[in-house]
Amino acid sequence: MTIDKKYIDHFINVSSRAALASSYLVGKKDKIAADQAAVDSMRLELNKIDMNGKVVIGEGSLDEAPLLYTGELLGNKNGPNFDIAVDPLEGTNFAANNLPGAISVIAIAEKGNLFNAPETYMDKIATAKVEKGLVDLDFPLKKNINNLAEFLNKDITSITACVMDRPRHKKIINELKDLNVKIKLITDGDVLGALYVSNPKYNVDIFLGIGGGPEGVLAASALDAFNCHFQGRFIFDNDKDIKGAKEMGITDLNRKYELNEMIKGDSIFCSTGVTSSEMLKGIVITDNEYISETLVTHKSSKFKEIIKRTNLIEV
Ligand code: FBP
Repeated sequence: MTIDKKYIDHFINVSSRAALASSYLVGKKDKIAADQAAVDSMRLELNKIDMNGKVVIGEGSLDEAPLLYTGELLGNKNGPNFDIAVDPLEGTNFAANNLPGAISVIAIAEKGNLFNAPETYMDKIATAKVEKGLVDLDFPLKKNINNLAEFLNKDITSITACVMDRPRHKKIINELKDLNVKIKLITDGDVLGALYVSNPKYNVDIFLGIGGGPEGVLAASALDAFNCHFQGRFIFDNDKDIKGAKEMGITDLNRKYELNEMIKGDSIFCSTGVTSSEMLKGIVITDNEYISETLVTHKSSKFKEIIKRTNLIEV
């Protein structure tokens, strides 16, 4: 089974409208309001679509989030069964402070094909397509970098590794420095960070480190369409998360997940720029129109493009 191409348009609309909604709050120093605007818009638009959608990655559990909570049913119940993963505003700090890299994100797969990620951290590694067994979350960093350099026929000193700037990554960053690898430090937004490996034009050979688990699954769903390599391991380091994982049926807390264990079958991924980044221009508003840029992938049709749209602002 595949997801009909007509849904591409619907989800570009969902993602770009969410980006538009939060764009009004860019630079207003209120990341909660910017996020809420995107959430409200995304939910409204998703409910108009001909589908039986279920949120598998959303804003949290029902008691944490009244809208787009995990398990919420969306759509007009008149169409296929989809699993939906959303991050209506990824990079809330970027939006609040008018910095590059805020995006809205949505991924869709057929029912049962999108991993229901716990709200914990995930240790991640991503590269473009490499030979099996060449780059692995379980290998020492030096081995991964050496293997990758050899595979890419590059000198180690010209390999670029993207890592989030966090105290927890001190060891990784020091090791990369000792290896004389080029480090690209990002302050937030590890969905985009991981997506940089999808195209050589972004100049990132490997993405490494610990970030949000849901963000990991969202990145994996786009990387799947680009045929990239991605592995993740959730980090359960407190009783609440361990209990939550067990309730979700996760028995092996140390399990390493391959990309195709997180996302299976056909999928659509859409991510629209709220503020501009190396990948996507942010929302531009002119009179009664807005211009958006959305990275779109549709696995079965091999569609992978950045779509620029000009739309009327509906009041
Ligand atoms: P928000 O948009 O929810 O603020 O998340 C931004 C982000 O940088 C994610 O991209 C990343 O996965 C996560 O936060 C990292 O979490 P932390 O800031 O706790 O290290």
